[in-house]
Amino acid sequence: MRTLISGGTVVNSGGGFAADVLVEGETIAAVTAPGLAAALGVTADRVIDATGRYVLPGGIDAHTHMEMPFGGTASVDTFATGTAAAAWGGTTTIIDFAVQAKGTSLLSAMDKWHEKAGGHCAVDYSFHMIVSDVNDTTLKEMESCVAAGVNSFKMFMAYPGVFYSTDGEILRAMQKAREIGSTIMMHAENGIAIDQLVAQALAEGRTDPVYHSLTRPPELEGEATHRAIQLAAVTGAPLYIVHLSSRQALEAVTTARDTGQNVFAETCPQYLFLSIEDMARPGFEGAKFVCSPPLRPADHQLDLWRGLRTNDLSVVSTDHCPFCFVGQKELGRGDFSKIPNGMPGVEHRMDLLHQGVVRGEISLSRWVEISATTPARMFGLYPRKGVIAPGSDADIVVYDPKATQVLSAETHHMNVDYSAYEGMELIGKVETVLSRGSVVVDRGSFHGREGHGEFLERDLNQYLL
Ligand code: URP
Ligand code: ZN
Ligand code: ZN
Ligand code: ZN
Repeated sequence: MRTLISGGTVVNSGGGFAADVLVEGETIAAVTAPGLAAALGVTADRVIDATGRYVLPGGIDAHTHMEMPFGGTASVDTFATGTAAAAWGGTTTIIDFAVQAKGTSLLSAMDKWHEKAGGHCAVDYSFHMIVSDVNDTTLKEMESCVAAGVNSFKMFMAYPGVFYSTDGEILRAMQKAREIGSTIMMHAENGIAIDQLVAQALAEGRTDPVYHSLTRPPELEGEATHRAIQLAAVTGAPLYIVHLSSRQALEAVTTARDTGQNVFAETCPQYLFLSIEDMARPGFEGAKFVCSPPLRPADHQLDLWRGLRTNDLSVVSTDHCPFCFVGQKELGRGDFSKIPNGMPGVEHRMDLLHQGVVRGEISLSRWVEISATTPARMFGLYPRKGVIAPGSDADIVVYDPKATQVLSAETHHMNVDYSAYEGMELIGKVETVLSRGSVVVDRGSFHGREGHGEFLERDLNQYLL
């Protein structure tokens, strides 16, 4: 099968240029001057007219939680529904978190996640490993994970009693990561202090969703981020701060990077577009926005956009972790601490970030870099993913920058009963999506197949300061 995508503007992280893209089977065969393939008599089985459109590398969402057990319930997107929703939004690779439950092994967690995802994904997928039990066995198992293509490990300074690790445990895991060339990803919030604030709030009858944010102040994210950075400096391990939400945490990352430390951070669309005001919506609506770290006062958004421009924030991932309002978020009526933590978003990352281009916050090529190229490089998928170039997988998004759309639970494809962005008007829309050469989405219809997506074994990371 040969496909020619003609007349568009190819946008890579290095810039945009007019070019045609020739796809042979699952990979990109050539990126040519406009019209060259046709002039040389190359025929195609399928021609996609991309006139007036951008031709982008498929998005890579390096932070999702499909079918994840949490707080006595589980996130509602399966790998089938979540990867289909991802494809609708121009994301052609997800990296999901396999979860080591306390008292179990890393390898059994990996097996469990392969069982959940295998044969079900519409687009390609890979895993990070959540380490919640640090001991001699799990440290040894980190080596086996790397051999199996999983070379990034998430740890938690939050959630005491669940995923939490002590500083000593984090130090040991970082020493191991340093030894085997892998990255520690950190959920950086001071969970011990937060638990005290939560208990005090509940004892005083402050039970509404907004107290989820007020009991997790940005100072305690900044403090934990700084502490994680110091532990990384002592051990020499590369560090990737996940879901960074606040100015305080960004300052810690910026300082570390300015001194040349291998420290990176991602933020998420919810921290760029939503705020604590949403958590204070009346009638328990705020529960829809409960995630950790929490949404902040709106002025933090300006700092995060700046961080994206200065590359102190290198990646935007979604932390997609959807729980329905009915029956799941409602578990926390009368006690915000029982609201399952997480928000839906895997479908809207590319479109939301495009608003940053429209508003002049980031450039077109930076949009591609933070949503596809850097996650590919950071997590060992480049140049197979994250770039439109000969030899790369034909994961391609044809994007109409002039189309408009209104986000709504009525029309989204995630398996969740609300949209965090209900009614938001966006400029730009995904038109056609190819995953390894196959059309998955085209002009409003889905052509994907459950099981088309393959597991990606990842190489060693390519760090970028
Ligand atoms: O609230 C969140 N972020 N839920 C997902 C789990 C995590 O900490 O990433
Ligand atoms: Zn299965
Ligand atoms: Zn987290
Ligand atoms: Zn997460």
